[in-house]
Amino acid sequence: MPDALVETLRGIVGDDHVLTEADLRAGYESDWTRRYHGEARLVVRPADTQQVGAVVRACGKAGAAIVPQGGNTGLVGGSVPRGGEVVLSLRRLDNIGPVDAIAGEVTCGAGVTLAALHQAAREAGWAFGVDLASRDSATIGGMVSTNAGGVRVIRYGGMRRQLLGFEAVLADGSVVRRLPGLVKDNTGYDLGQLLCGAEGTLGVVTAVRLKLVPAQTRRVVALLAVPDLREGLQVVAAVRSAMPSLEAAEAFFPEGVDLVIKHTGLPAPFATRPGCFVLVECAAQRDETGELAEVLAAQPGIVDSALAVDAPDRARLWAYRERHTESINAEGVPHKLDVTLPLDRLAEFEQRVRQVIADAVPGARPVLFGHAGDGNLHVNILGLETDDERADDAVFHLVAELGGSISAEHGIGIAKRAWLPLTRSREDIAAMRAIKRALDPAGLLNPGVILPPE
Ligand code: MLT
Ligand code: ZN
Repeated sequence: MPDALVETLRGIVGDDHVLTEADLRAGYESDWTRRYHGEARLVVRPADTQQVGAVVRACGKAGAAIVPQGGNTGLVGGSVPRGGEVVLSLRRLDNIGPVDAIAGEVTCGAGVTLAALHQAAREAGWAFGVDLASRDSATIGGMVSTNAGGVRVIRYGGMRRQLLGFEAVLADGSVVRRLPGLVKDNTGYDLGQLLCGAEGTLGVVTAVRLKLVPAQTRRVVALLAVPDLREGLQVVAAVRSAMPSLEAAEAFFPEGVDLVIKHTGLPAPFATRPGCFVLVECAAQRDETGELAEVLAAQPGIVDSALAVDAPDRARLWAYRERHTESINAEGVPHKLDVTLPLDRLAEFEQRVRQVIADAVPGARPVLFGHAGDGNLHVNILGLETDDERADDAVFHLVAELGGSISAEHGIGIAKRAWLPLTRSREDIAAMRAIKRALDPAGLLNPGVILPPE
């Protein structure tokens, strides 16, 4: 039977941008860990905000649920269809406005990649404060919708802290626009901050006004071998208190480095095999290598170290951290948990979590890495069936026991919604449901994401 919605959408965006054939839809239907996939009714690719509004209105009229999608780098199953939804791809909204070099601000479309934004900011003598490994594919709309964090949160915060304004299409197809770039603006509810982190369930972000940060010209990276995470956190604390230029503080473990070596061909970073690796980066307007070396020299826990100043050397050290994701993916389909703990419980969590996983599913292989400065560990687990959530459950209970959060930066998606009551009260969830009902009464936008169906 012909799908009337297809014809309507073709009238809005043009024939080439409504994808109905299975092979054309395929790239939009599976996430890149391969854990989450579903069939879409169709994929629609509007060119601008007005077309997004018309698409949302048409879908509403047809009662067709919508899954908004950016670069499809999400890790919680929130940006791929679960079965029969319309995938609304925002990638064509890739316009970057001129950088306001006086205010240090820029407006960009939801489909702009993080790498393109970095380049635009750099060319104007500024920088963008958020960075993450999937920068070539991740889009700004998706990053705002998930309140993405990344490797510089310790200095600049996540997407929420960069957001000065937004434009979004609401569930009825109307457009809300607040893009003047005012640093101060106390005029009612902050809808932009509400949409940020809402994972496309309250509106479709089409453009944002973002704050930029000063471009730092001199960088130094240290890769450190320490006996364990507890020692690593001591080192991070020492650098943090001595050096305001600290921009990244990452931690990872031999199990992950082994996978990186296996799948990328990189040599082992050190002759010895430490219990934990820490990577710190400082960025300033002048060379601070001497200061960093001095702080590190006073840390008795460091058993080996490598310092890099030139860009290729820094990239070589970062590769041991940044290539974790692809190396884990090359090994199998992981369950990706992303948790935060209070910093003073992080080492205890790391010590206990491997046993907790082994007890839940003997033979499961945990690979841990993450943003040590933020208390955020990515607990990747290999060797699990897709639907076997015993290990996930055990990890989330440990997180709750230690006062942490089940999602630090990846979001809830469909992957973690069952565990929301572990760290959010009944009243809290009721308030979230009330907001969802008010803004999307028909449940059109990304249904089932964050909040489980009632
Ligand atoms: C990272 O920190 O590299 C990202 O959050 C991606 C991941 O967790 O794999
Ligand atoms: Zn991360």
